[in-house]
Amino acid sequence: MKILITGANGRLGSALCDRLAGTYRVIPLVGEEAPGVHVELTRWGEVHRAVEHFEPDFIVHTAAWTDVDGCARDPQRALHVNGLGTQYLAAASGARGVPMLYVSSNEVFDGTSAQPYREYDPTRPANPYGYSKWVGEQALIRHNPQHMIVRTAWLFAHGGRNFVQTILNAARAGQPLRVVRDEVSNPTYADDLADAIVQLIGTRCWGTYHLTNSGAASRFTFAQAVLEAAGINVPLEPITLKEWLRPSTPPPHAALANVAAAALGVTLRPWQEALRAFIQREAEQHA
Ligand SMILES: NC(=O)c1ccc[n+]([C@@H]2O[C@H](COP(=O)([O-])OP(=O)(O)OC[C@H]3O[C@@H](n4cnc5c(N)ncnc54)[C@H](OP(=O)(O)O)[C@@H]3O)[C@@H](O)[C@H]2O)c1
Repeated sequence: MKILITGANGRLGSALCDRLAGTYRVIPLVGEEAPGVHVELTRWGEVHRAVEHFEPDFIVHTAAWTDVDGCARDPQRALHVNGLGTQYLAAASGARGVPMLYVSSNEVFDGTSAQPYREYDPTRPANPYGYSKWVGEQALIRHNPQHMIVRTAWLFAHGGRNFVQTILNAARAGQPLRVVRDEVSNPTYADDLADAIVQLIGTRCWGTYHLTNSGAASRFTFAQAVLEAAGINVPLEPITLKEWLRPSTPPPHAALANVAAAALGVTLRPWQEALRAFIQREAEQHA
């Protein structure tokens, strides 16, 4: 089976390419700056021609404009890349009967629920990034019945910028650490997510899924665990979202519950365990 994957040089995309390559023939599409085949998501003709040319048996769509603050500053571009770009891929794959998996976000929810969101709870994006990812979901549902929507959250990955690295770099540079305590979601190791996605693809059970490491945390608790796992002891000050003004408005409590994938036997380990494994592997890689 030939799998076309977008965003192959991204945090999740590169982890997924490694894993998919063990079982499938992988056709990687990369971002503009990376060497390899680049298909610009905002150009319908390019997207359509790529699907026609490569004739994949399955599409995994991880590419997105993931800079949430950038999306807040330029909502039109967010909509074009994340929403319409996904629509183009969904239309091209749907017309050819090719199944497609789309990686979406916890930010399709507004984060006002006290409970973790289940897969079919009503969505209500609260910022332009979340809206653009939601448009991608809607387009996929309409254009391609053979779809999987995989929502995830707070990714950390080897080799990419992420919250774990930001905290560790700041702590090692002796910078004061002020971290938000009232934003909650699920820290997720990209390698674990990639394994779960490969398992899910194998089921060919179309629908919407929530895949994150299990358990939820505030940014503050997550940062505490990062420092503890790395053996760094520096003061950490809890602050509120109101004290951390930024262009985007994050959903405050947008943790996800994995109900649908768990029913198929696809689950991820607790985020604390995943974080320790990540930090250990980082240390080995940089030893
Ligand atoms: N990171 C998170 O915490 C998080 C949380 C929830 C959901 N997600 C979702 O998970 C997926 C993977 O996230 P990630 O963090 O791995 O992303 P990432 O590291 O930012 O990688 C995104 C990829 O998309 C490519 N891309 C961006 N704009 C494009 C365009 N116009 N045309 C073609 N390719 C384009 C990028 O290319 P360049 O290299 O040129 O930029 C890059 O290869 C995304 O769909 C994201 O929305 C992520």
